[in-house]
Amino acid sequence: MAGLIIFLQRDAEDSIEQKEKMLTLGIETSCDETSVAILEGETNLRAHIVLTQDEHIRYGGVVPEIASRAHMRTLLPIIWEALKRASCDLRDIDLIGVTRGPGLIGSLLVGLSTAKGLALSIDRAIVGVNHIEAHLFAILLEKPELEAPFIGLIVSGGHTTLVEVKEWGNYRLLGSTRDDAVGEAFDKVAKHLGLSFPGGPAIERMAEGGKVDFVRFPRPMSDRADKASSYDFSYSGLKTAVVNYCAGEKPEEIEAHLADICASFQSAAVEHLVRKSLLALDDLGVKTMVLAGGVARNRLLREELSKEVENRGGTLHCPSPIFCTDNGAMVARTALFHYERGRSDGLDLDASANLPFPESR
Ligand code: KG4
Ligand code: ZN
Repeated sequence: MAGLIIFLQRDAEDSIEQKEKMLTLGIETSCDETSVAILEGETNLRAHIVLTQDEHIRYGGVVPEIASRAHMRTLLPIIWEALKRASCDLRDIDLIGVTRGPGLIGSLLVGLSTAKGLALSIDRAIVGVNHIEAHLFAILLEKPELEAPFIGLIVSGGHTTLVEVKEWGNYRLLGSTRDDAVGEAFDKVAKHLGLSFPGGPAIERMAEGGKVDFVRFPRPMSDRADKASSYDFSYSGLKTAVVNYCAGEKPEEIEAHLADICASFQSAAVEHLVRKSLLALDDLGVKTMVLAGGVARNRLLREELSKEVENRGGTLHCPSPIFCTDNGAMVARTALFHYERGRSDGLDLDASANLPFPESR
């Protein structure tokens, strides 16, 4: 195996020579998006394909077995399609970046095995990428000059993570969810209200024109008594509050006030994120903030957070919606960053469903 690992590394001189025009293939299969990108240098996306699996809609949530089978069916075809769109051959690829976790283990393994097979066949380096870190790196695709320090908030279906980015690649985890992730809460509340999957966009659409103060849902963890974990999040109580509210109302009433209930829930969910983010900005005296992950597509969240950060004389940076959702471009960009700093992985690279955020020690 060791020989094989060396076989996969390109020598340092080679990588420096090619630095300006490195072609990185990024592969993302951690959940229900199958995505592939071909990134030239740091920002030139020669091809980018994001396939969202619609097989899960009828179940109201992602079914892991169905997800991995769908990745198996579509991943190789979209890699060939991306190469075609980028007008290049597999052999032109210099580096392969692939999500290795966290995520659904079966789905991760499809991406990882494919990446290893391709890397082996063309004798190129492979870099395993942390999915949450990749969400953060998405901002560099559009704002390549963005420098740390900043506070990062990564909000997705599986994670609600607040980090201090001291410099790119050097992080301190400030807080994360103690139970449900914010996207998960959107999805579960939507399912309970009979809305479509994924729940985030469905609730956002339904909330338009609704009254945010129709129901005063509880704001989670509002006291700072527990100082040590004051940056943590909690969403299961808010979700249960919606369920309990509905249990006490007649179905016709719920139906008639669906927009108001969604607006009230969305407002509470966003307020919790904004409050914790501002706490971190104030405590650490940082002015810049990056918002990333699927839930970062939410307009109310973008607007509220941006307004509050600007009130403090700071700036909020948020990727375009396509780079908030799981995508291969952010994986390619993250892989390139680590490769340029001398990291590359071997064929023993493993998937990890619970891969922790890469905190610096
Ligand atoms: O980052 P992502 O694409 O996948 C994961 O890593 O989980 O995030 C997916 C999550 C889902 O929970 C989805 O409901 C949520 O992002 N989401 C939204 C919106 N668009 C997607 N949540 C609130 N508002 C939206 N507009
Ligand atoms: Zn994600």
